[in-house]
Amino acid sequence: MSKRKGIILAGGSGTRLYPITLAVSKQLMPIYDKPMIYYPLSTLIQAGISEIMVITTPIDMPMFRNLLGDGSRFGVKLSYAVQPKPEGLAQALIIAEDFLAGQASALILGDNLFHGAELTRDLLAAGEKIEGATIFAYQVNNPHRYGVVEFNGHDTAISIEEKPENPKSSFAVTGLYFYDEHAPTYAQSITPSERGELEITDLNKIYLGKGNLSVKRLHSGTTWLDTGTPDSMMQAAQFVQVLERRQGIRISCPEAAAFKQGWISASELKKLAAPLEKSGYGKYLLQLAAHEI
Ligand code: TTP
Repeated sequence: MSKRKGIILAGGSGTRLYPITLAVSKQLMPIYDKPMIYYPLSTLIQAGISEIMVITTPIDMPMFRNLLGDGSRFGVKLSYAVQPKPEGLAQALIIAEDFLAGQASALILGDNLFHGAELTRDLLAAGEKIEGATIFAYQVNNPHRYGVVEFNGHDTAISIEEKPENPKSSFAVTGLYFYDEHAPTYAQSITPSERGELEITDLNKIYLGKGNLSVKRLHSGTTWLDTGTPDSMMQAAQFVQVLERRQGIRISCPEAAAFKQGWISASELKKLAAPLEKSGYGKYLLQLAAHEI
């Protein structure tokens, strides 16, 4: 179990999904068989992080509480905070400052999905780094939509640009960031960008400028998807459906991740599965508890 604390940023406006998200938070939407926020929650559990703050909008917070509770169902301790307005990803570190209480953090975006056999190894390596920050780069065909990393010939990151018109590489920065204890202080020093947001790219650039930013390319066998548009949400759902149907497993299932970590026992898992028994999800948890998978 890591002392590093987790933050899931699950606010925002979701305007690219309107009218779907006019009344309901994006991160409560389903990705195939489970709510979107289960995916980043599972990733943090996989990283060995058991103390997690969920940051949402004031309106959506009660629904996230209804869904996730105090986290004990997932073997973790959850707390909640609101972001009154979507003023940027880096604001999460400022909102979470008291919660972090001088500890290192891992911030994950509530609409990001990570999956792959090598992922746990990459997460644990990032978590072990005590000083500086680790972010992950992933090759995409539309880098201009993201923060873009430029590497030198030695695989060292030399620049990061937010949504550049002419990207210097096809490596996008994913929505998972490991920071040391200085991140809230650095975030306070950032000024809002032209679009009025505290940009995570500016926070990452502070670490880069100090020579303290590690940019790890995710293994090519790892999948990273974001789910912010109807098409990307549908593609993510199809990805999950294909893998789960083919392999007979459930991916990014937080109860299963916690069980694997030994944070919930087989008998606890069985109890958790009981109310979900009519769904394939509940049946899967029962199979896991019975060591049938
Ligand atoms: P985005 O997808 O960039 O923004 P959004 O969710 O508001 O959607 P849209 O562009 O369609 O209006 O945000 C990435 C993730 O970060 C997403 O999970 C929402 C979250 N977020 C916040 O919680 N607070 C913020 O201030 C911002 C900018 C995003």
